[in-house]
Amino acid sequence: MDDRHGEHYGRVLLPKDCCMYSFRVDVPAQFRFPCQIESLEKKERAARETRPVKMEPAAGGGGGRQQASRRRPADLGLLALLCSSLLLNAIFLARHFLPPSRLLAGSGGGGGTCGLSWALQAAREAEAVAAVDCSGHGQAFIDGVAGEDGRPGCECNACFGGPDCSLRTPGCTADADSGNPLFLEPYWRRHAAASAVVFSGWHRMSYVTTDGRFQSVELERQIRRLHRAVGNAVADGKHMVFAAGSLQLINALVHALSPDADAGSPPARVVATAPYYGAYRVQTAMFDGREYRWGGTTARWANASRNSSTDGSFIEFVTSPNNPDAMLREPALRGSSAAIFDHAYYWPHFTHIPAPADEDVMLFTISKPSGHAGSRFGWALIRDEKVAKRALDYVSDSIMGASRDTQLRMLGIVKAMLASLHGEDDIFAFGHDVIRSRWRRLNAAVSRSRRISLQKIAPGNCTYFKRIREPSPAYAWVRCEREEDEDCHDALLKANIITRAGVGFEAGSRYTRISLLKSDDDFDVLMERVTDLVDAEKKDDAAPGSSSM
Ligand SMILES: Cc1ncc(COP(=O)(O)O)c(C=O)c1O
Repeated sequence: MDDRHGEHYGRVLLPKDCCMYSFRVDVPAQFRFPCQIESLEKKERAARETRPVKMEPAAGGGGGRQQASRRRPADLGLLALLCSSLLLNAIFLARHFLPPSRLLAGSGGGGGTCGLSWALQAAREAEAVAAVDCSGHGQAFIDGVAGEDGRPGCECNACFGGPDCSLRTPGCTADADSGNPLFLEPYWRRHAAASAVVFSGWHRMSYVTTDGRFQSVELERQIRRLHRAVGNAVADGKHMVFAAGSLQLINALVHALSPDADAGSPPARVVATAPYYGAYRVQTAMFDGREYRWGGTTARWANASRNSSTDGSFIEFVTSPNNPDAMLREPALRGSSAAIFDHAYYWPHFTHIPAPADEDVMLFTISKPSGHAGSRFGWALIRDEKVAKRALDYVSDSIMGASRDTQLRMLGIVKAMLASLHGEDDIFAFGHDVIRSRWRRLNAAVSRSRRISLQKIAPGNCTYFKRIREPSPAYAWVRCEREEDEDCHDALLKANIITRAGVGFEAGSRYTRISLLKSDDDFDVLMERVTDLVDAEKKDDAAPGSSSM
C-alpha cells in the first residue's frame, strides 16, 4: 500500500504547519491538495530520518511495513474493505466541511505552504499571539508591549493581574462606565477563521479606491445586504456615507443639515430629548459656528411658540433605542425641524425590531452590532442627494474618507455576520442571549433593593427573530430612590461601582447609567458589587438607623 495512503486514512487532523483550514480531513494522495501531500511527505521524511537504522526483530513491536508484509491475504482483504469505507467517509467529510473556495485555494499552490509565501509569517504571528494563554482573563495583542523575550505579554481584564492574568484583585471596583462592546469578543474567538483578515503591505496604498472614491463599493453592497437581511433599515434608495466611527458622523450630519453659512439665515439649533447621548452636545458645542449651535433639550422648545426666522431651524437627534434608557423614540419637535435618527442600537441584540427604519437621515455604527469599536467605523443612510453630498464632503475634507484598512476589515466582519444569520452561530442570537441573561441577573439582584431601581422594558415582537423577545438593553438606567442619594453616581461609587452620571445625559443626578456591554469579567465583578450593595441594604434594614453607603 502506498505510504501516502496507509497511515492517514480517515484521521481528522488539526492544522499544524501548513494549510490554514479550520478543519482538515486527511485523504489519499489523489484526493489531497498539494500542500497536504508536501506537508505529509515532509513529516514522513523527517520520521524516516529519525528512525533507528537497526530495527528490533518484529516481536510484536516491529516496523509497520515489516508487519504488513507478513499479513495474510484474508487480513489484507479485510483491511482493504476497512480502508475503502474510511476513504469514502473521509471524502464525504472533506466535501462537507471544506467550502468550494477552500478546496480551490489549496489546489493551485505549490510548496509546503499551500501556495502561500508572504502571508504565512503574518498568519503565524497572528495565531501565535492569539494562542498566548492569559487564563481567559486577558489577551495578548500583536501590537502589545513586548516583554524581555521580545513577545507581547498578556493585557489583563480589569480586576485581574499577573503575567498570565490568573490573579484576581480582591474587592476590586466594578467599572460599568463605558459602552465598550466586549461582550462580543467570545463570539469572534469562536469564529476566528471567518473573521480573520490578511492583506498585503501594498494593499490600497492610494488615497482613493475603486473609481476614485474614498469608499469601498463592495463594503457598501454588503452593508446594504446586512440591513436587508436583518430588516432593521431600508438602505435601498439611500446614499451611504462612511466615516471614522459614527461619532464623526454626528457633526458631519449636523453640518450637512444646517443652513448655508453664507445664506444669512440664523444658525440651526441642535437639540435632543433628555436623557440623551452626551456626545451630541459635546460635539456640537465643540464645533459651534455660524451654521449651528447647541440648543439644549427639546423640552425647552417643544411647547414654546417657535419663530423660525429668529429662532432658526432645528436639528433634532433622535436615538432609537435610546442611550441610556433603551426606549424606542420618535422626534419631539415637528415643523421646522430636521431629524437625525441615531440607530446605533437598532439591532436584534439590543431591541426587538418592529419594522425597518426608513427615515431621511439615519446613523449606524459597527461598534455595537459586531463589537469592533476599535476599528472606528460608522455609516449614514441619507435620502436626499444634496445632504449626502455635504456629509460626504465633510468626511472627505476632514479625513479623506474612512481608513481603507478599516474598510477591508469591516468587509470581512460584515460578510461573517451575514453568513451567520439565522444559523446556529447567528451573531444576533448570541448577542441577545448574553445581554438578556445579564439584564435578568441584574434585575433579579436589584429587585431585592429599595435603594435603587431600573427602567422597565416590555418584551416586544421582533421581525428578525419572528417571535416576542425578552428585553436586552445595552444599558441599565439606574435611579437612586433614597432621599439622601441625590447623587446616584456618587452613591454607587461609594459601593465600588463606577457608572456614568445622569447629568451627562441631562437627566439629573438622581440617575446613572450601568453598561451591560463590557466583558464577562467586568459583568461578573459588577454583579458581585451590586449584590454586596443590596446585601448591605438588607443589613441596614435589619438594623435601623445605620447606613452602609
Ligand atoms: C447612541 C450612540 N451613537 C453613537 C455612538 C458612537 O459610536 P462609534 O463607536 O461609531 O463612534 C455611540 C457610542 O456609544 C452611541 O451610544
